[in-house]
Amino acid sequence: MSEPLPDYRDQSPAVAARFAKIKERPVVLEIDRLGRQFPGEHGPVVALRDISFKVHRREFVCVIGPSGCGKSTLIRIIAGLDEPTSGRMLVDGKETSGPCPERGMVFQGYTLFPWLTVKKNVMFGLKMQGMDGGQADREARQWIDLVGLTRFADTYPAQLSGGMKQRTAIARALAANPRVLLMDEPFGALDAQTRAQMQSHLLEIWRNVDVTILFITHDLDEAIFLADRILVLKAHPGEVQEVIEVPVPRPRNLSQLNSPEFLATRRRLEELIHPRVDAHAHEHLPIIRLTQAGDDVE
Ligand SMILES: Nc1ncnc2c1ncn2[C@@H]1O[C@H](COP(=O)(O)OP(=O)(O)OP(=O)(O)O)[C@@H](O)[C@H]1O
Ligand SMILES: [Mg+2]
Repeated sequence: MSEPLPDYRDQSPAVAARFAKIKERPVVLEIDRLGRQFPGEHGPVVALRDISFKVHRREFVCVIGPSGCGKSTLIRIIAGLDEPTSGRMLVDGKETSGPCPERGMVFQGYTLFPWLTVKKNVMFGLKMQGMDGGQADREARQWIDLVGLTRFADTYPAQLSGGMKQRTAIARALAANPRVLLMDEPFGALDAQTRAQMQSHLLEIWRNVDVTILFITHDLDEAIFLADRILVLKAHPGEVQEVIEVPVPRPRNLSQLNSPEFLATRRRLEELIHPRVDAHAHEHLPIIRLTQAGDDVE
């Protein structure tokens, strides 16, 4: 018999102390009663309703929820690529809307300029901000070193692997010195092994940079591995269902994937996101016979 899992709300003294410290830090991002409706064929679609949460400086928050619960809508509004129909957003205590370099975005799809090298892609935003070429070059090199692409600075995107493209996109977003880095399923298109490497790599980058991260994912393990807190959304309408303080200590490593606190958190997320169907439901399912031969499989 395996040991029963602890309660996902149980925190070791070290983890509890870390959360106490995070809560003392200033709030970088505040979402206040945010709502978004879209016009639909059968009346308005409520993509988001009454979403409120606060993210503290250098906190790592993941947003998880079933498909269509409004995750991308939420992060697009925070990035300033869409407008809410109600509610407000505050960055460093100031109400704001519209796109701004203080909120950098990394998308799932590769969004690099194919005609520019890695370094020129990272320099692009810096030069747009009016930085002169020499300084933009030096700054871009620092970010490229940080994401581990030093040898590929003069390579074009078509010659990079998926993971390298996303590292370039992260370097490009960080070069603009954002207060909040917004990531919408940035590793969704990567194979499992590259994805695991990128998760560890992102945590390493985050440890070295003063940046707050809001990260959207479908993957329960990814959310637990990365996050301080997980915001669980539910669909139709998109609302906050629960906010979980991840009890897994930092620094994180892959051996923690089977630790009791990791498994307890995953079980809670599964309960919230994939509620168990009634155990007797299968007894009522109609049996569909595909052949007349009576060749039962059991
Ligand atoms: N531009 C739009 N016009 C109309 N409806 C939209 C628009 N964008 C999103 N929606 C609707 O809002 C809801 C939330 O969509 P959203 O893309 O934010 O979900 P999601 O959680 O990111 O889903 P997924 O996990 O599949 O990426 C859905 O019902 C979607 O159909
Ligand atoms: Mg989405």
